[in-house]
Amino acid sequence: MSVHSQNRRVTVPEIRAHKNAKPVVTLTCYHAHTARLLDNYVDIMLVGDSLGMVMHGLENTLGVTLEMMITHGKAVMRGSSRALVVVDMPFGSYEESPAVAFRNAARIIQETGATAVKLEGGSRMAQTIRYLTERGVPVMGHIGLTPQMVHVTGGFRTTGRTEAEWPAIEADAKAVAEAGAFAVVLEGMAEPLAAKITQQIAIPTIGIGASVACDGQVLVLEDMLGLNPNPPKFVREYAHLGPAIEAAVKDYAADVRERRFPGAENVYPMKKAQ
Ligand code: KIV
Repeated sequence: MSVHSQNRRVTVPEIRAHKNAKPVVTLTCYHAHTARLLDNYVDIMLVGDSLGMVMHGLENTLGVTLEMMITHGKAVMRGSSRALVVVDMPFGSYEESPAVAFRNAARIIQETGATAVKLEGGSRMAQTIRYLTERGVPVMGHIGLTPQMVHVTGGFRTTGRTEAEWPAIEADAKAVAEAGAFAVVLEGMAEPLAAKITQQIAIPTIGIGASVACDGQVLVLEDMLGLNPNPPKFVREYAHLGPAIEAAVKDYAADVRERRFPGAENVYPMKKAQ
């Protein structure tokens, strides 16, 4: 296990330098306590719009707002001092035009203090990625399975399982890299395509359900901690916090009902009257 000792933030050029070198360790993070726990071990913390489902119980990411992203982005920045923090641009905040995307990305950067934003889409978003990077906003791309398109695609389907699909997805990867993105998430992608794209482009690819062929990996933190009762099948659960939390709450409920108070010795005694 590698523990970082520096306490300034990882920079965008440092992430780019991971290409063909050390894999990029990325996890999603939405709140201050977990940010503190992750900070020494990850290169990037992604305040992903998956927080809509994980933190707010939404059905998909489409109901996530800029305000929600900014609130959680601030919490993660307060809880961390080393990892590079990337905040997702939510649905509706960037697709309309490069100028609208810049205004909302600038709000995210100014109000949270995060270093970069992530947005979904390949060739169709290349102009926007260029517009943002040329104006000082580092962008992480996101191609393959793009959850904000769920109503167009009709579901969350792995991409690149037939070779006929490859040229369009390869073109997306090249467009994102050439537009100036510093890294790109490949989500839900067949391994041979993820491997080919990783070889073809000059920026790190960060895979989620896209095989070990990528330059780094990202998982939703709560999935790998065992808090999701139905995690995606590519997720390894490194801990089982769901059952652990349930057992702890059950013990607590029993203590309260039985009027047991194990922490009683730590309660401040009354002061003696003078
Ligand atoms: O929103 C998110 O958490 C993401 C990751 C799954 C890549 O975009």
